[in-house]
Amino acid sequence: EKGGYPDFMMKEIHEQPRVIRDTLAGRLVDGHLAIDELDLSAEELNLIDRVYVIACGTSYHAGLIAKNLVEGWARIPCEVEVASEFRYRNPIITPSTLVVAVSQSGETADTLAAIRDARVKGAKVFGITNVVGSPVARESDGVIYTKANKEIAVASTKSFLGQVVSLTLLALLLAQSNSKLTTNQVRLLFGELADTAEQVEDILSDTAAIDEAALACKDAASALFIGRGMGAAVSREGALKLKEISYLHAEAYPAGEMKHGPIALLDEGFPVIAIATQSPVYDKLVSNLQESKARGAMVVAVATEGDEDIRQHADHVIYIPKVRDALSAITASVPLQLFARAIAVARGCDVDQPRNLAKSVTVE
Ligand code: M6R
Repeated sequence: EKGGYPDFMMKEIHEQPRVIRDTLAGRLVDGHLAIDELDLSAEELNLIDRVYVIACGTSYHAGLIAKNLVEGWARIPCEVEVASEFRYRNPIITPSTLVVAVSQSGETADTLAAIRDARVKGAKVFGITNVVGSPVARESDGVIYTKANKEIAVASTKSFLGQVVSLTLLALLLAQSNSKLTTNQVRLLFGELADTAEQVEDILSDTAAIDEAALACKDAASALFIGRGMGAAVSREGALKLKEISYLHAEAYPAGEMKHGPIALLDEGFPVIAIATQSPVYDKLVSNLQESKARGAMVVAVATEGDEDIRQHADHVIYIPKVRDALSAITASVPLQLFARAIAVARGCDVDQPRNLAKSVTVE
């Protein structure tokens, strides 16, 4: 049932183009987003003045990506918070607050508690989940299903991508409802979002550079993932994936924070994995790579196809197709999943069943 793949994680990574296509199928009708299951009129959507995304683990990282889109496109303040923190403080919630609860399993205890709390305080709650009829689906006012189908590997890959695509749709919907984006802009962005399915296929078709970088890093004791903007969120997920399946310690930092502490870690051969795709902050990121190289770090850069300059600043370059920055998390996350898996395999780990972790966390 692994479909010829060596493990479920690999199979699920390869299902991602299908997940993107299925999550988007039927969602754009005459230039308008059709997410009817949310059951909120355009007027009601237009009244939303604050968004909270609440989730745990990888789902929380999907939320960090969505913040950039909700604020960038819809211009609505968006906070992203781990559910176990949200539920025990007193967040500012009004009837015009939208809470988006993201959970692959749909049964994470902290996320459910946060949903209940938000509803008691009067917020509208949307759930984004992979499991039909799950508690998150049942207890939310509206739900978007991620269409990833059952995910077996404990480390989430395809459902993460489904979450990012669903949250991207939600951000587009909010921006269309409050007219911050025109119908034409939405149509254009939706088309580019759909194109990411093929771009992910492209990434999956040649993984030689990823495998080579993984071999170079596999014996490290620790690794630092850096990025800016979208790349900062993507780097968080890259570090989590690596540590949970390979037990190689990894942490992620916004690249601009390097000189405020983490740069002290760097010495000869220390792996720095950088999201260095084309973006408004590309040059700033490159200067962080220069600082890293100057201290002997081994830099692995995920960069945009055609960017030859990046080779001067990196020991290993993983090229991915060009997409606009707002959609780059979808493509940039995929090589990091493969990178983590390749390291875990090289270290002899069970990639589908990492120690100490469970697929769904139904107790606090
Ligand atoms: O089912 P959920 O999305 O609510 O689960 C949240 C986390 O437990 C989950 O994402 C966890 O971090 C995974 N092991 C990530 O690969």
